Amino acid sequence: MTDQAYIQINELTRKFKDKVALNQINLTVKQGELFGLVGPDGAGKTTLLRTLAGLLTITEGEVLVDGFDLRKDPESLKSHLGYMAQEFSLYGKLSVLENMQFFAELYDVSPSQQKERFPKLLEFARLTEFQNRRAANLSGGMKKKLALACTLVHQPPILLLDEPTTGVDPISRREFWKILNNLHVQGTTIMVSTPYMDEADRCSQVALIYRGSIVECDSPAAIRGQLAGEMLRIITSDWLRAREVLLPLPGVKEVQSYGEALHVLVDSTSIRTRAVEKALTGNGLEIKEIREITPRMEEAFISLIRKMDRA
Ligand SMILES: Nc1ncnc2c1ncn2[C@@H]1O[C@H](COP(=O)(O)OP(=O)(O)OP(=O)(O)O)[C@@H](O)[C@H]1O
Ligand SMILES: [Mg+2]
Repeated sequence: MTDQAYIQINELTRKFKDKVALNQINLTVKQGELFGLVGPDGAGKTTLLRTLAGLLTITEGEVLVDGFDLRKDPESLKSHLGYMAQEFSLYGKLSVLENMQFFAELYDVSPSQQKERFPKLLEFARLTEFQNRRAANLSGGMKKKLALACTLVHQPPILLLDEPTTGVDPISRREFWKILNNLHVQGTTIMVSTPYMDEADRCSQVALIYRGSIVECDSPAAIRGQLAGEMLRIITSDWLRAREVLLPLPGVKEVQSYGEALHVLVDSTSIRTRAVEKALTGNGLEIKEIREITPRMEEAFISLIRKMDRA
């Protein structure tokens, strides 16, 4: 990994008529980085990835990839990039292998290169034994892995993956990320959008995008470290009521709900835990669980987005 910018995004704006989908975005992605892009629905993730893939024009600003200007030289960048769309479409009637052949031809991968690469890609995606199965008959996780294999047939040094694991079961998700980690170790530069915070935690850098702007861009540890305070996990007999009781207490900065549990950000657990317990029981709430937890990306991001909403 070098320290030089591999993808440099300067003041990038993309509008759809009056709608500003990307608002003066600045981002630097270094070579070999596993770069996560997270943000809620409609934040601009797909717009950013499609712009980088050269599929959407730039309204304002510039994008440099490996020194090439995306605006001036989109064709020479095509071989650099592998783009996997959010709604990636495979050909259901074609087999696994035939789908890979289709993409290989699209990217001028010669038959001899195909012969050399396909077994490796199939192995990599753990699809070797399914190579003759029709794509339509694959499981959801296998379809995603096949889509990734198709994206890799021309061996692009940069991968742009738009929510590649959404809707995939947890075991297949883990397997997919193992593949991404292998690619990362081999030096591929990867930009991946995800709605899953545990996936964001696996990246070397993460950018949070919200309403078309980059709210934060840093390593997962640095983003987690921004949460000023300590976190209590509390389960009571009534989380809604508990939330109301806790919010006005001194030292309580934020209350996030996770199913029946509340994650309560306080300035200091050693100072506040007793008062929190007292307030809950004093209001007739039974405490089923209360313990300190280490904040994750999820809590950090929700906190950042709430700050944006308040601003
Ligand atoms: N072709 C288009 N025409 C008009 N508006 C668009 C178009 N594509 C996207 N938008 C708008 O731009 C904004 C960003 O959309 P985008 O698809 O990039 O979000 P996203 O972060 O990928 O969301 P999701 O998580 O739902 O995939 C949204 O407000 C969307 O409605
Ligand atoms: Mg999207």
